[in-house]
Formats: sequence, C-alpha cells, structure tokens
Amino acid sequence: MEDIYILGIESSCDDTSAAVLKNGILLSNVTASQAVHEAYGGVVPELASRAHQQNIVPVVDQAIKRAGIEKEMLSAVAFTRGPGLMGSLLVGVSFAKGFARSLGIPMIDVNHLHGHVLAHFIRENEDDNDQPEFPFLCLLVSGGNSQIVKVNAYNDMEIIGQTIDDAAGEAIDKCSKVMGLGYPGGPIIDRLARQGNPEAYRFAHPHIQGYDYSFSGLKTSFLYSLRDWMKDDPDFIEHHKEDLAASLEHTIVDILMKKLRLAVKDTGIRQVAVAGGVSANNGLRNAFRDYAQRYGWKIFIPKFSYTTDNAAMIGITGYFKYLDGDFCSIDKPAFARMEK
Ligand code: KG4
Repeated sequence: MEDIYILGIESSCDDTSAAVLKNGILLSNVTASQAVHEAYGGVVPELASRAHQQNIVPVVDQAIKRAGIEKEMLSAVAFTRGPGLMGSLLVGVSFAKGFARSLGIPMIDVNHLHGHVLAHFIRENEDDNDQPEFPFLCLLVSGGNSQIVKVNAYNDMEIIGQTIDDAAGEAIDKCSKVMGLGYPGGPIIDRLARQGNPEAYRFAHPHIQGYDYSFSGLKTSFLYSLRDWMKDDPDFIEHHKEDLAASLEHTIVDILMKKLRLAVKDTGIRQVAVAGGVSANNGLRNAFRDYAQRYGWKIFIPKFSYTTDNAAMIGITGYFKYLDGDFCSIDKPAFARMEK
C-alpha cells in the first residue's frame, strides 16, 4: 500500500501549529505560541489573527522540513475548521485550502474538540501502542470547554456532560487574574499549588444534575472570599498565594473527578482518558492516577506536548478521516461555535 502523509494545521486560538504524519505516525510537530497576549491578561483576537498570518508559512515550512519529506509527497491537508476564534481559524483554513489546491490533494476538515480527544492516538513510533479501546470516556478540559465525552469510535463521539457556564480552564484563568498573577493562569496556579495546602480554604461546590458542570459559582465564591480576607490583611494574597492556589486547584479537580466517577459508574466504562489544556495540570493528573488505583480504571494521560493546542492531534484525526475517505469541499467555511 502507498504511504499516507498527512499535513495537519491548527490555528483555532493563539497557537499556530503544523504537523506531518506518515501512516499515522508523527514525523514532526511545530508550534509557534503567541507571547503578545500576556500583556493583556487574555487572548486578543485581532492580535492572534495577525500573529497567525505571520507564523503560518514558516511553521508549515518547518514541519515539512523536519519530517524530511517534500511537499509533493503529501496525501492530504487536514485543518481545524472550528470551533475557535473566527479570525484565527480563517488563517489556517484559508492557507490549508490554498495549499491543498495547489498540490492537487484532498482537504480534510477537523473539529478541534475531536482533535483533543483523538490526541490519545498520536503514535511517535511503531512500538507506541498504548491507546484506549472503544468505547472509552474522555474528560475534555480546556480554556473553552469542560465536557465528558463518550467515545464510541474515531468518528462517533457523544457529549454526555458539559459545563453550563464557565469552562474549568476559564475559571482557573479568571481566579488567577483576580489574584494578580500572570496569563495564562493555569500553569502558574499549578506551580504555586505544589507548595500549598489544598485543604487550607474551602470554596463553593456546585449542585448540578447529571454529568454537567458549573464553575461560575466557584469563581464568585473565590472573589468574595478574597475580598473578605483582604479587609483584615490587604496583603492576604501575597501571604497565602500557595495555599489559595492549592485550594482552588483542589476544588476544581474534585468537581471534575466526582462527575467523571459518576459517569464511569453509570456507563460501566472503565477506560478513562483526559484531554485539553487543563490536562497538563499536575493535581488533575495525580487525581487520575489515584482514581485509577482506587476504582480500577485504566487511564490515559497525554504527553504534555499534546495537552494544549497542537497540530499533531489534527493530523491524526485527519488520518482517520482519510482512511474513511471523509474529505471536505473547498466551500466549507470555518465555524466559531459548535455546529448543531
Ligand atoms: O486546550 P487549550 O490549550 O486551549 C483551548 O482552550 O482550546 O487550553 C488552555 C487552558 C487555559 O485555560 C490554561 O490556563 C489551561 O488550559 N492550562 C492549565 C495548565 N496548562 C494550561 N490549567 C491548569 N494547569 C496547567 N498546568
């Protein structure tokens, strides 16, 4: 059989990324992150689009060079079509379409969230065979999403629970902003939490039915508690930042894991994966290992490089769609929100 080379392109938020896979095995994965947003405490969409515009050609060029192939060897171009920031998506989508057209090869549209879930199937070499079996459950936690997904097959996923307001990453980032820490808050909270006491403070736990999540109450509870404590000690945050970070992280991880455990109990599916930017969090990773031991789960935790946005996950999703002959036409537009 002829070798299948897929170029994956990701540009949904503030990372411009390109990857090349050969027969489903990763050859290269290049990402240009955008430091420009740090000064604003959040992603500025217009600045993100401009940075993508500057980065896309060199990033794709590097990915192809590092893979040691010629662009004429590519079988298809897979790209994130949504959801994400429209201006950011447009850069990757337009580039991918033009590139595929110029090479006369098919284009494959990828749902960014499916990409995060299927990141568990990225293989770095032939011996890399520790992948989940279907069906499995995946906790998808990022800056924009908190979902429990039942994954029946590569191309068949059901969202069985999701946040009704803020995403977990969004809550962490907002609380870290309130504490005056940098952006994005996730990695900073993670680092501080390792030196703090997770039981030092208690914040509101939501009472939501089923497998859905809510994080807006926690955010408010965090804000109001800080206000009260700062009345007595204006430097309260500085004096207690490690304990605050550890307690906040502990609360969020606890909320995420309890619903996930309920989903495991009800479905009887014990293969459990975690994906998305927040899956880089050490507290969450440890909780996964702890639950695996306590409840007999088989767990799948991605490598750090595949937790945040990357093109390897888009490439692998594109590879499975290629095998299904599931291509997209040039008139399919980018979409900012999940299609109904
Ligand atoms: O998946 P992602 O890169 O982007 C999307 O939202 O699509 O996720 C970004 C989110 C941010 O909220 C960031 O603060 C969070 O992931 N994050 C973390 C960690 N690393 C990134 N949250 C907690 N602990 C971390 N180590």
